[in-house]
Amino acid sequence: MTPAPAPLLSVRDLRVVIGGRHILHGVDLTVAASGTTALLGRNGAGKTTTVRGVLGLVPRTGSVQLAGEETVRLPTHVLVRRGIGYAPEDRGVFAALSVAENLRLAERPGAGEPDYDLVHELFPELARRARQAAGTLSGGQQQMVAIARTLLNGNRLIIADEPTKGLAPKAVTEVARVLERVAETVPVLLVEQNLALVRRLARHCAVLADGRTVHQGPAAELLADAEAARRLLGVGSTGHRGPARTPAGPPVRTAAHDAARTTEADT
Ligand SMILES: Nc1ncnc2c1ncn2[C@@H]1O[C@H](COP(=O)(O)OP(=O)(O)OP(=O)(O)O)[C@@H](O)[C@H]1O
Ligand SMILES: [Mg+2]
Repeated sequence: MTPAPAPLLSVRDLRVVIGGRHILHGVDLTVAASGTTALLGRNGAGKTTTVRGVLGLVPRTGSVQLAGEETVRLPTHVLVRRGIGYAPEDRGVFAALSVAENLRLAERPGAGEPDYDLVHELFPELARRARQAAGTLSGGQQQMVAIARTLLNGNRLIIADEPTKGLAPKAVTEVARVLERVAETVPVLLVEQNLALVRRLARHCAVLADGRTVHQGPAAELLADAEAARRLLGVGSTGHRGPARTPAGPPVRTAAHDAARTTEADT
């Protein structure tokens, strides 16, 4: 048997305390060297904090190895230079700036010629809207800007935090198509609550609950196991954990749930 390829990112016992509050109590996460790895968990489980911990945006302890090198003590700007691209949960586009200006700001000196060919190939719409203020784009188009920024600099890992949140089904499909293409060339860590998307895109997954990793394994295996999906993610049951928020924490979103939100989303 050939040995499994070394992971690109290996997080062990990640702990984060903010304002005296323990948010992460020991997150383990392995991101494969190719394809998409999904980070799952209910609202408030600690997914975004994990990503921010990996990027050094919050104080953290534990071990975060990128391609075998320990990075847990490195500041964010060094981690970015080492090749981690980040599309944050709120997309973080500059609303008053044009699409082209948003992209220009993401160019990283020293990372070589920015790869506008790739960006324009994946996002022809952004090329057409280069001069449009990013704040006037639809939610889906803004997400495209956020992802495009991560592709300019030849990054070795892309982290996308809930890229389909609040998007209409058509935009979800478009973002999924792009992420699928991206993962063919760069490994992706995808925080996602849309399980239909996870099923389509992710090979591996990790599940967080209350600031800890409670499961790691092949994504298809978890999603095929209704009992495990219900227990770990709060979906697939007909019982008390419906789409509404509950004291136990809301469940992750499903494709049907997303579709039902269409009318209020993605203006
Ligand atoms: N800066 C902060 N100060 C205090 N508490 C925080 C801070 N950031 C996050 N938390 C808390 O930590 C917990 C985990 O939050 P986090 O945003 O990581 O969850 P999440 O899994 O990304 O949730 P969601 O699915 O809603 O995006 C939550 O209870 C949140 O309120
Ligand atoms: Mg989050």
